[in-house]
Amino acid sequence: MSVDPIGIFDSGVGGTSIWKEINVQLPNENTVYFADSENAPYGEKSSEEIIQLSVKNTELLLGKGCKLIVVACNTATTNAIDHLRKNYDVPFIGIEPAIKPAALQSKSKTVGVLATKGTLTSSLFHSTSENHTNGITVIEQVGKGLVPLIEEGKINSKETRELLFSYIGPMLEKGIDYLVLGCTHYPYLIPVLNDLIPDHVKIIDSGEAVARQARAVLEQKKITNSSHNTAYHKFYTNAGVSVLKSFLEDVEGSLEISHLDF
Ligand code: DGL
Repeated sequence: MSVDPIGIFDSGVGGTSIWKEINVQLPNENTVYFADSENAPYGEKSSEEIIQLSVKNTELLLGKGCKLIVVACNTATTNAIDHLRKNYDVPFIGIEPAIKPAALQSKSKTVGVLATKGTLTSSLFHSTSENHTNGITVIEQVGKGLVPLIEEGKINSKETRELLFSYIGPMLEKGIDYLVLGCTHYPYLIPVLNDLIPDHVKIIDSGEAVARQARAVLEQKKITNSSHNTAYHKFYTNAGVSVLKSFLEDVEGSLEISHLDF
């Protein structure tokens, strides 16, 4: 049993989509979230830079007493989680594009993956993809420019809709029946995507699976929080707080959201 918080970080506000799943599945757990929005997007950075930023974020969360760290960013996971696991004792949970369930369920044998350049060029993504997509055509598309638009809170703008369609349209033409969202910012685009894609194309993201994995690791290591105190949730961003706040508006209960010079 441990009342220490779960630490969660992302390059920005996207990881709140993972935080929400964790909060549903682990309502007793205290949490500390860090949005490194000042350094977003990670997806266009080199692997070395992504590792450096992930180390910095990990140190911040460890300094706040976190017992487990969720790397709520596909780009940071696919580039840096091996380094983090080698260098820190705390357990890490990562997120990768859910290519396996998409490949298993696809009837057209053609699946699309929308993710950042950093994720799609990583060796971890490639080995996972090769292991699970025998006989499947995988159409990889870099979602360049989407993360900055989401970070600006422009989810429903014409610009976002047009950029998104320029990425999704060619995938639809090639016959995908599954679209894997390989970036934790992208679940916030689902309402827009639902307008752009036909009903038979299913969207898959990994948020729920990550929360399930976090719960399993806490139980296995016997560090769940079994106290009956009300959980606290602290959110930090090194950019302005207003966009982060807007992404958490639908959450009930009291959240502490503050700016951190970091
Ligand atoms: N949320 C991050 C991910 O899952 C976005 C990466 C970025 O900042 O480009 O990949």
